[in-house]
Amino acid sequence: MAWFSQSLLLATCVSLAACTRITDISGVHQRTPMLGQTVNLTALVTAKGKSGFYILGDPVEDQRASNGLSVFTTSTSILSQVNAGDMVNLVGKVAEFRPAADPDYLLLTELTSPTNITVLSRNNTVTPLVLDKYRSPPTEQFSPLDVGHDGWLSVPNNQSRIDTVNGTLQPDNFGIDFWASLLGQIVSVPKPVAINFPNSFSEFWVHSDEWPVTGKNSRGGLSLTFGPHGIPDANPEAIIIGSPLDGTKNPKTQIGTKLTDIVGVITYQFGFYYVLPLTAPTVISNPNFAVAPTTLTSTDTDRCAITVGDYNVENMAPTGTHVQDVANHIAHFLLTPDIVFIQEVQDNSGPTDNGIVSANVTLSTLVQAIANVSNVTYSWVDIDPVDGEDGGQPGGNIRQAYLYRPEKLHLVQPPGVTAGHALNATSVLTPSGKPLLSLNPGRVDPTNAAWQDSRKPLAAQWITATGHSLFTVNLHLVSKGGSTTGHGDARPPVNLPVAQRTSQVETVSTFVKSILEVDPWANIVVAGDCNEYTQTRSVFQSLTPLLTEIDEVANVPPVERYTYVFDNNCEQLDHMFISPALSSRYAEVEHIHANNWAATISARVSDHDPTVARIRTIFHDPHLKSFQSLSSLVSVRLSDFLQLFLANF
Ligand SMILES: *[C@@H]1O[C@H](CO)[C@@H](O)[C@H](O)[C@H]1NC(C)=O
Ligand SMILES: *[C@@H]1O[C@H](CO)[C@@H](O)[C@H](O)[C@H]1NC(C)=O
Ligand SMILES: *[C@@H]1O[C@H](CO)[C@@H](O)[C@H](O)[C@H]1NC(C)=O
Ligand SMILES: *[C@@H]1O[C@H](CO)[C@@H](O)[C@H](O)[C@H]1NC(C)=O
Ligand SMILES: *[C@@H]1O[C@H](CO)[C@@H](O)[C@H](O)[C@H]1NC(C)=O
Ligand SMILES: *[C@@H]1O[C@H](CO)[C@@H](O)[C@H](O)[C@H]1NC(C)=O
Ligand SMILES: *[C@@H]1O[C@H](CO)[C@@H](O)[C@H](O)[C@H]1NC(C)=O
Ligand SMILES: *[C@@H]1O[C@H](CO)[C@@H](O)[C@H](O)[C@H]1NC(C)=O
Ligand SMILES: *[C@@H]1O[C@H](CO)[C@@H](O)[C@H](O)[C@H]1NC(C)=O
Repeated sequence: MAWFSQSLLLATCVSLAACTRITDISGVHQRTPMLGQTVNLTALVTAKGKSGFYILGDPVEDQRASNGLSVFTTSTSILSQVNAGDMVNLVGKVAEFRPAADPDYLLLTELTSPTNITVLSRNNTVTPLVLDKYRSPPTEQFSPLDVGHDGWLSVPNNQSRIDTVNGTLQPDNFGIDFWASLLGQIVSVPKPVAINFPNSFSEFWVHSDEWPVTGKNSRGGLSLTFGPHGIPDANPEAIIIGSPLDGTKNPKTQIGTKLTDIVGVITYQFGFYYVLPLTAPTVISNPNFAVAPTTLTSTDTDRCAITVGDYNVENMAPTGTHVQDVANHIAHFLLTPDIVFIQEVQDNSGPTDNGIVSANVTLSTLVQAIANVSNVTYSWVDIDPVDGEDGGQPGGNIRQAYLYRPEKLHLVQPPGVTAGHALNATSVLTPSGKPLLSLNPGRVDPTNAAWQDSRKPLAAQWITATGHSLFTVNLHLVSKGGSTTGHGDARPPVNLPVAQRTSQVETVSTFVKSILEVDPWANIVVAGDCNEYTQTRSVFQSLTPLLTEIDEVANVPPVERYTYVFDNNCEQLDHMFISPALSSRYAEVEHIHANNWAATISARVSDHDPTVARIRTIFHDPHLKSFQSLSSLVSVRLSDFLQLFLANF
């Protein structure tokens, strides 16, 4: 059918240029074979926006060659000549566009300088290509150039460029190739499901309920997981929905919002393939906004259990409602864990850059706010950074801190052991063959170049109510700013600054090793915002032989392991790694989606979700009656245990 209509067109060609088909312009490679050529086309106008219109020619059997094309013009006189449904004849120049300021974006093939537009007929039917199970995006990888052990997350990255390689499209296997093979076409996305909040331009990511997807979590989002071949799955089956061409406004979405079918054209802009809808879809249903509190609490009947919270509280200054919002989360969703690892606590003057570094007002305000709503009065500990040296919001001096319940945990500070300062490294002493921190709390290797302009790890050693030692390291690794997009030109995508983040983990591993060398059975928890997925295995390769991520120990389904939502992925940036002793004793963990299940992005308290875990510093099998002896043990006051414990040093 398609072949016959092409022959009809060929028969009327008056010049070679007039014989051009859109599929010839698209070709079957990433880039056009007709760059710079002036062409004469007959095609159907499918859609029109402020910066041009979209045309459709006859398809060819080879589905790699798109029969759609965008025509760039901002001329209102030209735009007024065409409407969707017009069959037109026009002349234009084949071009490739990439903003000069964004060298890491892909080139967009388009037709520029349209002239000689003749409308041959009007009111033709425009039939979008339905993207359903017969023609849907692949579900695992972005690009054949994402080579390496960790697929699209492999290091080294930025090893090749899609537009330089200009490879043959493989739309059945690679997401970028799939969307490239549809560039300029009008498509329908049936039964779309949003997988993120809208960005500041009201654009949002979707997948279709009619497509096979991988990594789908209980909320309807797509989690970053390992694919069936052990390679990190990039979720290329997701696409971002841009601003509607008719000027209507997209609805507010969240993970799991179901929408009416979206008809739109495929383009590439701002570093991603997009569907630009003809008109805004409407919401069919939203997921339930209610978030259940954690089920992990430490009760009086299981005194060997310690509950551990972890929460990046996103630039928490002592002013405004932010502190009370965080306090409510800790009280009502985390149910006041025995110890809470907090990241992004700002100094007493918040982002004001005035030389103040102490956060004692910020932290005591938080403690009071929690006490007001829970009856739990935490103690807290942190170490002030050197002013302006730890990165983050200028003037904020963000740092990690611990909140802890003094009836459950005490800092181990025998004579001679004090809290460290910003540039003092804590180390492991062995006064009686057992590991003891020289500074408690103390920072881990804070002058190592790995920690330049970044938050130094906060290590501490505790004694529990059962008289056992627990080491903790609270992390906030360097963030991913400056990385390139999943649909970008550089492959594998640039992950910044991955070398620094890897070195940071190495210094932590060296520290953990120094404890385990003295006591292989030490209780150690390393947790916090790592700004990295464990699927980027290279970053964690120094740590994973020593400690195990608690999600693994607790067998959390891989799709439910997320604390952050970015672009198309639900992903885990916040991790908790535990030592062999803790892994051997039944550890549990829950990620509480208090923020990423919120109704709107502005209703969130932080961009990260908090986590609660329950660990056991000695073995206690709740099914056995061995508990009796333990409960008599714990009736001794904690301070007495501290004396007993310290007497060993
Ligand atoms: C383009 O081709 C059509 C059909 O062959 C022809 O009628 C028209 O004159 C050509 N336009 C130009 C500007 O050459
Ligand atoms: C892309 O590769 C194809 C096949 O080799 C070639 O025809 C085309 O001209 C190339 N495009 C560019 C812009 O280099
Ligand atoms: C195409 O447009 C140009 C300028 O707009 C005009 O000079 C030329 O005559 C047109 N050609 C045809 C075949 O209409
Ligand atoms: C036919 O197309 C013209 C111009 O595009 C438009 O104004 C008109 O409303 C259309 N008529 C119908 C019946 O769709
Ligand atoms: C990727 O590598 C190219 C050199 O091939 C370099 O010019 C570019 O700056 C790198 N991109 C990033 C974001 O580091
Ligand atoms: C904060 O620390 C300063 C200096 O040590 C002290 O004067 C002040 O009372 C402390 N404030 C709070 C709320 O703890
Ligand atoms: C705690 O409650 C007291 C008494 O109602 C109130 O004065 C104080 O402002 C509250 N503190 C915080 C930090 O919310
Ligand atoms: C605090 O404790 C009192 C007395 O036990 C109790 O009545 C009250 O409900 C508690 N409040 C909260 C927020 O737990
Ligand atoms: C901590 O570091 C400071 C400055 O580097 C140094 O003067 C001080 O002696 C160190 N204190 C300890 C306990 O190591």
